[in-house]
Amino acid sequence: MKVKTDKKPEKGVVAYFLFKEDKIPAEIKNITGKLSDEEFDRKLGKTYSTATLGKAKYDRLLIVGLGEKKDFEPDFVRRAAGSAVRYCKSIKCPDLSILLPKIPKIAARSAAQFITEGAVLANYKFMELKTKKEEYFDVKNASIITSDKAAEEGVKTGVILAEAQNYTREVNEYPANIMTPRKVAEYAKQLAKKNKNLSVTVFDEKAMKKKGMNAFLGVARGSTEPPRLVIIEYNKSRKKLPLYGLVGKGITFDSGGISIKPSKNMHEMKYDKSGSIVVLGAMKAVSELNLPIRAIAALALTENMPDGNAQKPGDIVKAYGGKTIEVLNTDAEGRLVLADSLAYVSEKNPEAIIDVATLTGAVVVALGKHAAGLFSNDEKLARLFEESGKRTHERVWKMPIWKEYSEMMKSDFADIKNISGTGQAGSITAAVFLKEFVGDSRWVHLDIAGVMDITNSHPYLEKGASGTGVRLIVEALQFISKK
Ligand code: BES
Ligand code: ZN
Ligand code: ZN
Repeated sequence: MKVKTDKKPEKGVVAYFLFKEDKIPAEIKNITGKLSDEEFDRKLGKTYSTATLGKAKYDRLLIVGLGEKKDFEPDFVRRAAGSAVRYCKSIKCPDLSILLPKIPKIAARSAAQFITEGAVLANYKFMELKTKKEEYFDVKNASIITSDKAAEEGVKTGVILAEAQNYTREVNEYPANIMTPRKVAEYAKQLAKKNKNLSVTVFDEKAMKKKGMNAFLGVARGSTEPPRLVIIEYNKSRKKLPLYGLVGKGITFDSGGISIKPSKNMHEMKYDKSGSIVVLGAMKAVSELNLPIRAIAALALTENMPDGNAQKPGDIVKAYGGKTIEVLNTDAEGRLVLADSLAYVSEKNPEAIIDVATLTGAVVVALGKHAAGLFSNDEKLARLFEESGKRTHERVWKMPIWKEYSEMMKSDFADIKNISGTGQAGSITAAVFLKEFVGDSRWVHLDIAGVMDITNSHPYLEKGASGTGVRLIVEALQFISKK
């Protein structure tokens, strides 16, 4: 989809977003005549459409409700744009214009950005593995109608962010037989080929062994697919810019290993690579927005499988940096691959480290599918992500990491164990395990297990991998880089 700003709508569908309190503009009345509340109640997401029958230059008029002003949230703009795109798809119209609405407290630039995001996200559906592509209709052109120059910047940013999120949705949707660790490494290299300010280094098993990344390698042992630690650097040579670290859990399939999972929803564990693919998408956006920072990302990629060579409960491994870990449950593997990766990135002394992981089922119990769990050793950093969560509607909820929780992870035979064994505070004990490997770095951990995929109807995302986290992280980095 091409998105641009324009002065006047020309063709196709023209959409107006209206609050309950808004006066119906004359140009609408001209087409619809008097509009009663029964015909169009203007509740959020409700639509009214009609052919213009020669009364305007374009073919169809669409009105999308924004609800009452007092209930307004910025995400409603994305949702309304999503409704407009879905309407266009339903009537197979390739051209959509949206009049930039006036919204109290939201600048034209932001409104244009949110409309763009909603439209580009709603237009995307994973079709790569369907043989009949004609089942799917794409909206080709979207114009945001305004004379405000600032809107153009909003459109540009919105396109980069939404396309990065769609990229993450696509890469993450591929199942484990296709999207292996080696394949993800290829995607990263491909991205760096296009975006010249990115560079990629891939560590294979041998390189990891040499570095002593035995926690990571322990997880990989049970699989015939070789693991990869993919390092992506942004603005690598511009040493004066502040450095930020990103780390993503990239389990391309989590069977649980010897502590094997029940078969019922095991197929969903193709999404256990979400964290690393979110990081990949975030790096794409950061590089295209040309943010004035440096970044180093580590994607910790492997399968977690049971076989004759697999790691066993009770095994003790020495992680990168020397700490020993007792592996009491092989299904708590994310924290093991992250341990080595976090320790590696923290050595580079970044201003802050952000890790993203589908780490625990417990976070889904706590927060459901409406927020990621946030854990941080730095109040300011936590607040930054809370604010970014509000603006992007990729919401987070902060959990405590008091030292009592760390006590729960002490091992009888090693420095630390990978589960507490109490069945309590599962997401927090996972987080405090990670904390042991970030040294003195400021750090935030996002547990995205609940938000990795869309399973119910959503106003602008189709079912499947959600790409949640890309806009959240980039928003936070954008904010940091403006200061
Ligand atoms: N990948 C899972 C967590 C998960 C569960 C992600 C559901 C998405 C949806 C993780 O590796 C895992 O298995 N965690 C265990 C930890 C337990 C053994 C302490 C869990 O949550 O059950
Ligand atoms: Zn697991
Ligand atoms: Zn996992």
